[in-house]
Amino acid sequence: MRKTNARWHWWQKGVIYQAYPLSFQDSNGDGKGDLQGIASRLDYLKWLGIDAVWLCPIFPSPMVDCGYDISDYQNINPVFGTLADFDRLIAEAHRRDIRILLDLVPNHTSDRHFWFLQSRASRENPKRSWYIWRNAQPGGGPPNNWLSIFGGSAWEWDEATGQYYYHAFLKEQPDLNWRNPEVLHAMLDVIRFWLERGTDGFRIDVVWHLIKDALFRDNPSNPTYTPDQSPYLSLLTTYSADQPEVVEVITRIRRLVDQYDDRVLIGEIYLPIERTMRYYGSDGEALHLPFNFQLIQLPWDPGIIRHAVEQYEGMLPTHGWPNWVIGNHDRRRVVSRIGPEQARVAAVLLLTLRGTPTIYYGEEIGMSDAAIPEERVVDTRGKRQPGRGRDPVRTPMQWSDGPNAGFSAAAPWLPVSRDCERVNVARQTEDARSMLALYRRLLLLRLSQPALNVGQYRSFPAPDGVVAYLRIGDDKRFLIALNLTGSCQEVNLGNLSGRVALSSLLDDEGQGASSTMTLRENEAVIIEIDESA
Ligand code: NOJ
Repeated sequence: MRKTNARWHWWQKGVIYQAYPLSFQDSNGDGKGDLQGIASRLDYLKWLGIDAVWLCPIFPSPMVDCGYDISDYQNINPVFGTLADFDRLIAEAHRRDIRILLDLVPNHTSDRHFWFLQSRASRENPKRSWYIWRNAQPGGGPPNNWLSIFGGSAWEWDEATGQYYYHAFLKEQPDLNWRNPEVLHAMLDVIRFWLERGTDGFRIDVVWHLIKDALFRDNPSNPTYTPDQSPYLSLLTTYSADQPEVVEVITRIRRLVDQYDDRVLIGEIYLPIERTMRYYGSDGEALHLPFNFQLIQLPWDPGIIRHAVEQYEGMLPTHGWPNWVIGNHDRRRVVSRIGPEQARVAAVLLLTLRGTPTIYYGEEIGMSDAAIPEERVVDTRGKRQPGRGRDPVRTPMQWSDGPNAGFSAAAPWLPVSRDCERVNVARQTEDARSMLALYRRLLLLRLSQPALNVGQYRSFPAPDGVVAYLRIGDDKRFLIALNLTGSCQEVNLGNLSGRVALSSLLDDEGQGASSTMTLRENEAVIIEIDESA
């Protein structure tokens, strides 16, 4: 695939859409989404205006962690289809100039993966050192205090071989030993396999976890921990994650990816934002896009958001391209976090900040966290830690108000959200002021205006309840002003004037704006600056 133009890569100008394959579209009537289903919705995605689709894992898996427990990296889970279906999906997507990104899960495999079956077979097995095996402490008990993100110790005792193995997540997800070069080479083979099939890039799962402390020292306790938080947070991850050597591993992966034309590497990293910066590499040789999760994690407060954007813009290395996310398959949906009115403001923010946006499926129609009855809980975390389950954000895409929201002819694997009669694609396509209409307008505007996708960012003075900034292109400027409150706000434009190119309320386009501009409650506007003034 070619670059969009000489100066910018497609992944800088473009917009990524995260599809959760189990829930996007079922084509064979088993109540579970699949690759043919996704292919059948490519025209919708094209119409919407997205450039790439990232698929959560589609590989063979016992599905103990919904596919993040892979038992074969070089095949397709029959639930989703076959390798031939994948090839067709790639071809159909590329025909529409849509890229396909896969979810690479290199930190851990399923405990059913052949590598692990070998590894646990005996201490002498050549694959033993592909995973992290340690002796019990002298008096018995796990080798150190490291905790599993899903609860309890991160060490599982293996009776047959008399050692513990390490798992940052479930015991069914043993961590690979990335200090062993054989693991790196095996994973490079996996990556090459998918690149050769036309995959346009990868989102790398928990990339900051890949390397652990060589001495396996105890993690210190977290001084700011409060008991309402997940027990995992009671310790800092000083020795179990974010080790200096991890960037070297990523660089090896990047070198391979760079042998192919214009592919992208995105990394999942939940760390304080300043610590994600080194994942770009000291000279841009690591990830293209270390995920920036600030808009998911921070309170929706104008002062905090303004500060976060400015700080992030300020700390990016010169070779680092920004990115933004407001939702994903692990976190509450934006509508449920900040309400439907402010979710429209968040959409404008996501799609007008400098950097690559990722839209989580259903965000574009304002899907909210669905209620999941106890007996329907699927997510292992939800089963282990009631109230912390992720099923509510993984429910079927709401295409229509028909049976099963148009997702499947059969009862879906997770219940369809109750609001699907109102919140669905078909209905919102007919409504010129719907959330879907807003997303589509934003995406088209962004696509047609280089200032809005690759232009410079500059903050703009605004009252307390407002976040405002300029996007500056070669010959055009836009002022974006977001009212994060439920009351009117006045923004002083100084000597700037222009016209409203888009209001989040979708009723005000073309109106002039000068001197003091009033933002209505929960309104965000994009003003095209009049350069002739
Ligand atoms: C991060 C993924 O986003 C999450 O869904 C998964 O449970 C863990 N990694 C373990 O792979």
